[in-house]
Amino acid sequence: IDQSETRFPLTPNASPLPASERADKLVSPGFGRVFTDHMAIARWSDEKGWHDMQIVARGPVQMDPAAAVLHYAQEIFEGLKAYRLEDGGVGLFRPEENAKRFRRSARRMEMPELPEELFLASCRELSLVERDWIPEGEGGALYLRPFMFASEVFLGVKPSAEYLYIVLASSVGAYFKGGAPSVSLWVSQEYTRAAPGGTGDAKCGGNYAASLVAQAEAIRQGCDQVVFLDAAERRWVEELGGMNIFFVFDDGSMLTPPLTGTILPGITRDSILRLARDQGITVREERYGIDQWEADARSGRLREAFACGTAAVVTPIGKVSSPQGSFSIGNGGPGERTIALRDTLVNLQRGRTEDPYGWLERI
Ligand code: PLP
Ligand code: COI
Repeated sequence: IDQSETRFPLTPNASPLPASERADKLVSPGFGRVFTDHMAIARWSDEKGWHDMQIVARGPVQMDPAAAVLHYAQEIFEGLKAYRLEDGGVGLFRPEENAKRFRRSARRMEMPELPEELFLASCRELSLVERDWIPEGEGGALYLRPFMFASEVFLGVKPSAEYLYIVLASSVGAYFKGGAPSVSLWVSQEYTRAAPGGTGDAKCGGNYAASLVAQAEAIRQGCDQVVFLDAAERRWVEELGGMNIFFVFDDGSMLTPPLTGTILPGITRDSILRLARDQGITVREERYGIDQWEADARSGRLREAFACGTAAVVTPIGKVSSPQGSFSIGNGGPGERTIALRDTLVNLQRGRTEDPYGWLERI
């Protein structure tokens, strides 16, 4: 990259991982364990605003034990992928949507908003520096993890006067082990994820901390993921710990829970809504009750269900369990509509088909 054009000037890692060792790590990277040589970083202070933008060697950050984030969890994050395109280029999928959501999350957590140009520049420039870390092959991508946290050294409960913004890059394959053909869900009865007026529609670390006990219960019950019901009535299906959810019916129509403030407005969710509607499919954004879900699955009115998100892409849901018992969806394997929508989305993300939406940004 031409360094005169960058917003995040690069200080190269003096001892990057040798190419042969990198190649070994890229064979089967899994999710979130393989990290690249560099990270992007920027600082905020109330006096200086955003400053000190850089790309530097990835490594530990020095933190005072009284840094506010360690006590009151003022932290937000994003997740998006950089793809290796057919023509050898690198692409980001709708990154400006992540930039906007990062600003919305910041507002909810009373943090400074990172201007969209800086968010985009950090993701673009880091992706280009680390392009050799994008795994080859189906499902491979560079997962970018922009995040921001309160770094002021102060124990009073108030918004921090200092913040650190960092972007990590992680070489990833499929999110679910073995690229699972379908996943099973556990309906959490005791725990909910977010209440009206809470932080459910912000991407803040605390939401995920609070979901772990329910996810652990799901695993103990032999399921892959937890699905949450609404906090007020414990009735309406909301979303998974880290994915939105869609349903496909026997009349061809689809349904996804509405954005009522307690679920994360997924960019994959939004893309699927658009793709399905442009194919003439009726998609309702409506509440769907857990009892109805079971009745529809048993009667065959419900044909398919799938989870969607950046990490999981589109993942078929085969089985649903709760303390009352379990039921299967369709034949328990991937449904036709699910696979067709996944293929349409993935082909756009990887630049394999014409992109009438302008969603793929070539960098
Ligand atoms: N819901 C939650 C709770 C998430 O963490 C995510 C992942 O980011 C999603 C939904 C899907 O969002 P997106 O499609 O923007 O990745
Ligand atoms: C994502 O899909 O980017 C997520 O954030 C899900 C999970 C890894 C937290």
